[in-house]
Amino acid sequence: MSRKKVSILDLQRKKDNGRSITMLTAYDYTGAMLVDQAEIDIILVGDSLGMVMLGYENTVPVTMAEMLHHCRAVARGTQFAFTVGDLPFLSYQTDITEAVRNAGLLLKEGRMDAVKLEGGREMVPAIEAIVRAGMPVMGHIGLTPQSQSKLGGYRVQGKTAVSAQNLLQDALALEAAGCFSIVLEAVPEPVAAVISQKLAIPTIGIGAGAGCDGQVLVFHDLLGMFDRLQPRFVKEYANLKQTILDAFVAYRDDVVNGRFPAAEHTYPMPEEELAEFRRIIKD
Ligand code: KIV
Repeated sequence: MSRKKVSILDLQRKKDNGRSITMLTAYDYTGAMLVDQAEIDIILVGDSLGMVMLGYENTVPVTMAEMLHHCRAVARGTQFAFTVGDLPFLSYQTDITEAVRNAGLLLKEGRMDAVKLEGGREMVPAIEAIVRAGMPVMGHIGLTPQSQSKLGGYRVQGKTAVSAQNLLQDALALEAAGCFSIVLEAVPEPVAAVISQKLAIPTIGIGAGAGCDGQVLVFHDLLGMFDRLQPRFVKEYANLKQTILDAFVAYRDDVVNGRFPAAEHTYPMPEEELAEFRRIIKD
């Protein structure tokens, strides 16, 4: 069955009609196909790929070349979901022309539908320029992992009245700059709920409670495949780490003990050809 691809208008309509938006990360072709088949609205090629796919300590080292490589793979596996690619650290913070060019690359070469970037009011000029160039931008405020070192680590943001007000001002500024949606990460539930009510565009929460217009989780976290970081907001829907480990150990044991491959995993040969083969090689 061919399904109509999700658009920005569909996402806005979901918010307007009080229906929740679903978003998941994916980083490769097979993963994207599975997320897409589950009819998740948005696939995010997050720079979290630096940690879960590439083994970096955090998202800071991720490059444009790495993002493009993974975006292209995800695009090949996606038919239904709206796709968003993360602009990696230092690809948009230093220069607006550079920000527009890199956003363009994620759409043109990475075949994404939109880009996401982290930061509040300080990012308005870059967002306006990218939107003016015809590209949709998703904002990301609260805990912004690219600046976790400046924030003092992976910490909840907006816990005081003043910082909550700051977050609201950031969200309103991002909306006015043209963002079509904003991710709220690690923000107290009541603060995220107020921001979601005050904005016309949809908010997508991660560790921000049920008052957001949608939710996002990291692919490996949802599947229980990555336990180096275990934030409180993750809900594991499977324990694939154990399932995968069990399968690998069973395979190793089967090979070592001669149980794999069995007859059904091998290709037969006509008897007479085998006899002729043996005759030729004088076996
Ligand atoms: O990189 C990422 O996966 C993200 C999500 C956590 C929102 O930005």
